[in-house]
Amino acid sequence: MECSDRRPLDIIRDILAVVEELNTLKDVDAILDRVLGEARSMTGADAGSIFLREGDHLRFSYVHNDTLFRGPDASKHLYTNYTVPINERSIVGYAAKTGESVVIDDAYALSGREPYSFNKKFDEETGYRTRSMLTIPLKTFQDRTVGVMQLLNARDCDNRVRPFTKDDIQYAPLFANSASVTVERGIMTREIMLRMMKMAEMRDPKETGGHVQRVGAYSAEIYQTWARRKGIDALTIKRNKDVLRLAAMLHDVGKVGISDTILKKPGRFEPHEAAIMHWHSVYGAALFANTTSELDQLCLQIALGHHERWDGRGYPGRLPENLGEVRELCAEPIAGEDIPIAARITALADVYDALISVRVYKEAWAEEQVLEEIVKGRGTQFDPEVVDAFLEIQDVIRAIHKKFQG
Ligand SMILES: [Fe+2]
Ligand SMILES: [Fe+2]
Repeated sequence: MECSDRRPLDIIRDILAVVEELNTLKDVDAILDRVLGEARSMTGADAGSIFLREGDHLRFSYVHNDTLFRGPDASKHLYTNYTVPINERSIVGYAAKTGESVVIDDAYALSGREPYSFNKKFDEETGYRTRSMLTIPLKTFQDRTVGVMQLLNARDCDNRVRPFTKDDIQYAPLFANSASVTVERGIMTREIMLRMMKMAEMRDPKETGGHVQRVGAYSAEIYQTWARRKGIDALTIKRNKDVLRLAAMLHDVGKVGISDTILKKPGRFEPHEAAIMHWHSVYGAALFANTTSELDQLCLQIALGHHERWDGRGYPGRLPENLGEVRELCAEPIAGEDIPIAARITALADVYDALISVRVYKEAWAEEQVLEEIVKGRGTQFDPEVVDAFLEIQDVIRAIHKKFQG
């Protein structure tokens, strides 16, 4: 806080405003991104990371680094996979264990009397030079530690690294405490989502965990390319991408409403069985009805619309306001841009994955044949712009298919 000379009341007012904004976010990654961004801007930190508690360990969960992570592949660092035990030997472990912030002016000049030591591995691997560090436990007001936030290399007005100031040390933990409840809620939302997916998976032996992971990832990447081509700003894309991934993973969750005799039938469906199966889109939407969050709204749009077609020959179409006892889908067709973009994207991702993978009733198709089929559906089954975005990122699509097997 060295550059601005703000009064404590203004700082607290800002913290409250950000916490209020955090309360509108559902996806845990979006929350961590915002928390870290705000803590860094409060303290002038060049970099930072967040570790989330998993039992007696901390899992590295989010990172920002203005010096190192630039350019289009910056997000790959988010997928670094490691945990640190909660004990006094590491700085983050110490903060989690004791519930106290750790302030270090120069990581390379520790006295040697501390129980923890500084792990130089990251600096050695990347060429980064860590100096000042502010490590804060993310504690809720009920004293639950949900994780640890570590801020690195505070900068002065001339962009030189400086120690964290008294104000930083006082206000950043205050913000961290207020944000912890939101982080905890984000984790809970994601866990509930994952349980819903597991539930749908247990009901439907034809679907696998790999399929939902892949459809989620394809959809997120197709959206990013589609949105860039549309000139949508980077911040909006970033916000939407993770939420869309989660919502697309739940596209078939409405299958929990379909009877076992149909759902578990081996082989292809008879026409009357297929008609009942179509109801999974409506059941899925019903799970997210009457909600106001962005995530729930996307889940609803995708569950309802992922079998719609660009030319209007999909299902279920626009449903009558009051479905009552109607057990047949007799809705008006819906086509083109009337179908929400999230559903248009997931529709393509779902069909692509069904064709390229082995299913109980079919062999996997060759990639060439699948792409031919998708191109054939451009402008009839699928939104042409979505197909174009999908075709542009075939390397990414292949990598996702390889990563999430099973
Ligand atoms: Fe479906
Ligand atoms: Fe599916």
